[in-house]
Amino acid sequence: MINFSKLPEVTFPKGFLWGAATAAQQIEGDNFNNDWYRAEKEGKFRDPCGKACNSFELYREDIALLKELGHQAYRFSVEWSRIEPREGEFDAAATEHYVDQCRRLVEAGIQPWVTLHHFANPLWFSDLGEWHKRENISHFLRFSDYIVPKLAPYVAGWTPINEYNLHGGRPPHPDQHLKMANYKINLLFADAAVYDLIKQHSTAPVGSPLAYVPAEPVRAHDEFDRLMTGMVDWTSNGFYLHAMRTGELVFPFVDGGFFPELKGRCDFWAVNIYTRHMVDSRKADAYGKRYLHAKEAMIDQEFWFDEMSPDAVLGNLLRLTDKPVYITENGCSCDDDLYRIRYMALHYAAFRNAIDLGVDLRGVFHWSLMDNWEWGTYAPRLGLVEVDRKTFQRTPKPSAWIYKQIIANNGFSGEVLFSQEKC
Ligand code: BGC
Repeated sequence: MINFSKLPEVTFPKGFLWGAATAAQQIEGDNFNNDWYRAEKEGKFRDPCGKACNSFELYREDIALLKELGHQAYRFSVEWSRIEPREGEFDAAATEHYVDQCRRLVEAGIQPWVTLHHFANPLWFSDLGEWHKRENISHFLRFSDYIVPKLAPYVAGWTPINEYNLHGGRPPHPDQHLKMANYKINLLFADAAVYDLIKQHSTAPVGSPLAYVPAEPVRAHDEFDRLMTGMVDWTSNGFYLHAMRTGELVFPFVDGGFFPELKGRCDFWAVNIYTRHMVDSRKADAYGKRYLHAKEAMIDQEFWFDEMSPDAVLGNLLRLTDKPVYITENGCSCDDDLYRIRYMALHYAAFRNAIDLGVDLRGVFHWSLMDNWEWGTYAPRLGLVEVDRKTFQRTPKPSAWIYKQIIANNGFSGEVLFSQEKC
């Protein structure tokens, strides 16, 4: 057991930003016009998304909740399929909804950070072949050109495309390699192009979140595990960092080249970081598993939860010393909220160490504000706040109150973590 009172005092630089993140499809509910809804109708999910957290209706309450919990920033996504329900046709009411959300956040003293694409495609875009075709990027740019200027007066940070580097949650399996390589590379070009577009309308910083999954060999001494680890790291993290830094695209089994339009197209490294991949070159599933399963961990947990690996997180943040960094997602899935509090403490301590070692880390967005629809299931619970699935009532967990204290103190000590106030 970790004894929090023995953790050192952990404080963050003045102005460090604390907040939480969500995604439209996971919280809004009733998104009937995107590819997730189509998959839901085809019975592909354990749990249908349905009304999710009903946040499209309850967004004002969510803003009040963020305020009560002391958050300084809120990262959320706009739902493309609501704003552009048919190709080239924009919906004024849906647009006003997101403008109002931004306006109210600013009034509440909370910085809006906006994602333009978080895994969900409008049906018409999906029917056109979505990101599999390079020419479809123009549709995304038209949409962005419409919505960005409307939100720009309020937005404090842009995180345009969420996790294009890890399609499907993990690096491509060899069978899928070329298809997925193409998909990721198209998203990389979309990301670079939307960066230029946003810059025409907004002075707020821009950075698309990388699903930054540290890869580690199962056997550190084994040359095949190390080789495969390098491959996994390159196809998920390295290709993107290299392209953004140099303009050179290098991806296994794909003709590379220099593309000046890719170089430098982010103002900060946006990092979604949870845990590591353990890479085993002798398994068909060599790309590694991200999660410890409940059975192995021997806890009473229906689904999976994130293993804690703050050392891997720290080691990988040290690769990002050439630009400011924001942690745009970090959190864990667990029913045991004390586990979440420990996870937060250990990861924030790792973030603080990264700052001491030269990383210009400027803020953290906890994933997630509330328990939500985890892409096919409601079983994993990553929220600071519990949501009643019938009434949609929001109830902050102890971790939400602890987080509030961390934000208020811009750091924590063992005492803060031991506090049972409001728990
Ligand atoms: C995604 C979120 C997801 C979270 C937890 C991230 O990769 O951006 O949408 O809920 O991981 O699995």
